[in-house]
Amino acid sequence: MSPKEERNVVLETRHIAKQFPKVLANDDISITLYEGEILSLLGENGAGKSTLMNVLYGLYKPTSGKILLHGEEVEFSSPRDAISKGLGMVHQHFMLVDTLTVTENIILGAEPGRGGVIDYKKAREQVVAIAKKYGLRVDPDETIENLSVGLQQRVEILKALYRNAKILILDEPTAVLTPQEVDELFEVVKTLRNSGVSVIIITHKLEEVMEISDRCYILRRGRQEGERLTRGATKAELANLMVGRDVVLTVAKTPHTVAKDPIMQLEHVTVLNEKKVQALKDCSLDIHPGEIVGIAGVDGNGQSELAEVIMGLIPVESGRIMHEGEDVAKLSTRQRIFKNISYVPADRQEFGLVLPMTIAENIAIGYHEKMPYCRGLSLDYSYINRHAEELVASFDIRTSSALAPAGTLSGGNQQKVILAREFSREPTFLLVSQPTRGLDVGAIEYIHSQILAMRDRNVGILLISMELEEIFALADRIMVMYEGKIVKELDPEKTDEKEVGLYMTGGNA
Ligand SMILES: Nc1ncnc2c1ncn2[C@@H]1O[C@H](COP(=O)(O)OP(=O)(O)OP(=O)(O)O)[C@@H](O)[C@H]1O
Ligand SMILES: [Mg+2]
Repeated sequence: MSPKEERNVVLETRHIAKQFPKVLANDDISITLYEGEILSLLGENGAGKSTLMNVLYGLYKPTSGKILLHGEEVEFSSPRDAISKGLGMVHQHFMLVDTLTVTENIILGAEPGRGGVIDYKKAREQVVAIAKKYGLRVDPDETIENLSVGLQQRVEILKALYRNAKILILDEPTAVLTPQEVDELFEVVKTLRNSGVSVIIITHKLEEVMEISDRCYILRRGRQEGERLTRGATKAELANLMVGRDVVLTVAKTPHTVAKDPIMQLEHVTVLNEKKVQALKDCSLDIHPGEIVGIAGVDGNGQSELAEVIMGLIPVESGRIMHEGEDVAKLSTRQRIFKNISYVPADRQEFGLVLPMTIAENIAIGYHEKMPYCRGLSLDYSYINRHAEELVASFDIRTSSALAPAGTLSGGNQQKVILAREFSREPTFLLVSQPTRGLDVGAIEYIHSQILAMRDRNVGILLISMELEEIFALADRIMVMYEGKIVKELDPEKTDEKEVGLYMTGGNA
């Protein structure tokens, strides 16, 4: 008997289609989920993964096709219906209320008690019991805004389990986690599986697919491309199924001469955070035209403050920020951008895009008052649109048109719009933070080759990334940040992930 036959089917889709006004996002999808299995869903940016999960969760009504739960057809008209039937979903962008406590968030909408009186004590006890059972350690009385992203995600999972979820959907849960948090999440997911919960997980990281899932489905351009037992599959095979061609998992890098004078220099920069604690401590750093300096570090060691202070989003407490020999520390963000500085922020929801505006408008944003975006006093829409169409093609942004609102794009395609905008401005200095977060393997290959091409055109590049693999693939010099300080400079040719990892955690080999 094969492992499939001995297990119960808990959920099935039959010929699901989902048509958006201009995009057929799901086309004839039939998948099966077994009890106590971890299923991963793979596919390029825009392949239709989130759409399919939203259909399962009752957020979207399928255009055609059926959903069967334990063999019986179900129709969900809202997530409330799906939840009542044992489904839970953790979206990539969490939906917690920042000012409420962990317990309050978990019970919100499902409060125990009678006659309108909430039994907080009882709720808290239940939360603690579930947390203990699944190894989801979190303080039940802490407010959400004080928790790290990893802990907030735990609260989302607890919220689903509190509602007795037997099927848990995780849409790109690892994209925002540190490697340590990913390990912890996977432990939790395995505990859930062992207690009979079925988990569907979306991730672009093939190592994670190999590590965590029992089986996977591959979607491509809305259609089902294949199904594999993870045990027998290889990363190269899965990448090929997703993209429809062989993917180079590391882009070739050639030696390049670096200019003598730096384009950007931080001299003894100290920055205070909101609580008046030093978030950057006496940081000195220089980036020369034609090189990529990679900042390695565990998230939260001053990397975001480093980016923000360079862009003028937060003030320096002391020290100088020299751009081509001029101190720009007092200039506004706008003034800095006009010095041919491009910035790709880590948090695309917060700084990157205006979702109701078109892709074309988003590409012109910030620069719209300048040539060639305007003629005289009016915007040159024919140029703006033509330029956007070219970028949509070269960056392979999956959309029906450059005039579609940015909000209709899939997560990874939104990221590609930001990259296209910033890269196409022909910067002389580029600050990129987590450039490939949420991108599929084919898109990562393209973005990495673009970053290297800019370096070869003598752009000075500061790359902040939590992915050591990315740092090693791109950086000419590696700087390790720990507790607000640059603790070590390393030559990528003469070090390895292990040594960098040691400095990242405060060790000094
Ligand atoms: N609300 C919407 N309106 C119009 N089109 C949409 C909407 N939501 C998604 N789409 C389109 O449906 C397609 C599938 O998007 P979906 O978000 O499911 O992709 P995905 O596989 O999750 O990609 P990613 O890996 O980038 O998150 C895309 O072409 C997207 O532009
Ligand atoms: Mg998605």
